[in-house]
Amino acid sequence: MQADTSNRPAHFGDYQNEIYFGGLQGVIPKYPVEFKTLVQRATEAMPPHVLSYVQGGCGDELTQDRNASAFAHWGMVPRMMVDSRVRDLSILLFGDKLHSPAFMAPIGVNGIVTQDEHGDIAAAKASAITGVPFMASTLANDPLEEVIKHCGDTPAYFQLYTPRHKGLAESLISRAEKAGYKALVVTLDTWVTGWRPRDLATSNFPQLRGHVLQNYFTDPVFRSLLEKPPEEDPATAIRTWAPIFAETMTWDHLSWLRESTNMPIVLKGICHEDDARRANDMGVDAIYCSNHGGRQANGGIGAIDMLPGVVKGAGDTPVLFDSGIRSGSDMVKAIALGATAVGVGRPYAYGLALGGAEGAAHVLKCILAEADLMMAVNGYPTLEHVRAQGAQRVDG
Ligand code: FNR
Repeated sequence: MQADTSNRPAHFGDYQNEIYFGGLQGVIPKYPVEFKTLVQRATEAMPPHVLSYVQGGCGDELTQDRNASAFAHWGMVPRMMVDSRVRDLSILLFGDKLHSPAFMAPIGVNGIVTQDEHGDIAAAKASAITGVPFMASTLANDPLEEVIKHCGDTPAYFQLYTPRHKGLAESLISRAEKAGYKALVVTLDTWVTGWRPRDLATSNFPQLRGHVLQNYFTDPVFRSLLEKPPEEDPATAIRTWAPIFAETMTWDHLSWLRESTNMPIVLKGICHEDDARRANDMGVDAIYCSNHGGRQANGGIGAIDMLPGVVKGAGDTPVLFDSGIRSGSDMVKAIALGATAVGVGRPYAYGLALGGAEGAAHVLKCILAEADLMMAVNGYPTLEHVRAQGAQRVDG
């Protein structure tokens, strides 16, 4: 509990008080407050084909597991005799002041994670409730123009899987810009799908079954490639989509991306210091360190261990990070290692599965509450204090 609740701004940690005071009325939290139970409950709630797609990773899932476990070998030293009753977790990103460094990473099957199959809208609503920006995936069950309407005042970003068809790519980009998305996040590591045994074992690839393709099916350029509209002939639409899903991006594509939009450009999937340096030299607006949650290549290094190198190479360019964030302390450690903003992925998807927008918002609130209270207890009133303190490697 906070010692001093008088005359001070609201803190994310106050969610703890809400829960404890609820207990006095006999109310206990409807959704889990930590990741282990969240996974258990979501596992029971999700149909097998959705569960395997969300929970599964590449190969034997070593990278996916390491993404989370690698946080255990980073630690932070508490500082005492510091007045941290008032904390400021805010950041500036793409010209917007955000209340916290958290964002919702793009998850291309949000749409089918909720029972109503409008999970992208539920995720957007969770963003509006919490003020945590939503990065909407190209793969969605509702068109991007509809999804952003539910984000309220919270900025949203659009994640692009760059189609091999240039006209379609440009159409998606311009639709996103027109709809009000504040940044274009270009995912680099998914021009082909990684080897995912859980999905392979059941021949399960949701997109080929027509799920989460609404951004394509509503796109005028995509529709012009079809003789019959997708509503009449979905099978042909899916067969048309599959081979043009994603371009193999190279540095040469950057000038074309720049010409295609005024939105800030973020490169997602940068893990090497030299790639970060090159992105910085080429003037990208943000570098996104991520190994796609271990779903793409089973390289074996936890993403958090690659973050310091990326931050070094990135120079003054902001670095976004995801892959393995399961708690508030993970988030604070990522900030300590130099991230500007930190993406929550699977945890909010599990929240969606359990309780739609309310469930996802609860998960985000728990992560932010833990981050805030860790900063309070450890004597880090601001993110600058967190960065100045840094994180230490604790091998053994
Ligand atoms: C993803 N991720 C992802 N990334 C992206 O750029 N576009 C997408 O559509 C998706 N889709 C997607 C679906 C599912 C089910 C998952 C779990 C992940 C990757 C995502 O943005 C992020 O990098 C990871 O989720 C981070 O790993 P953790 O922390 O969720 O394990």
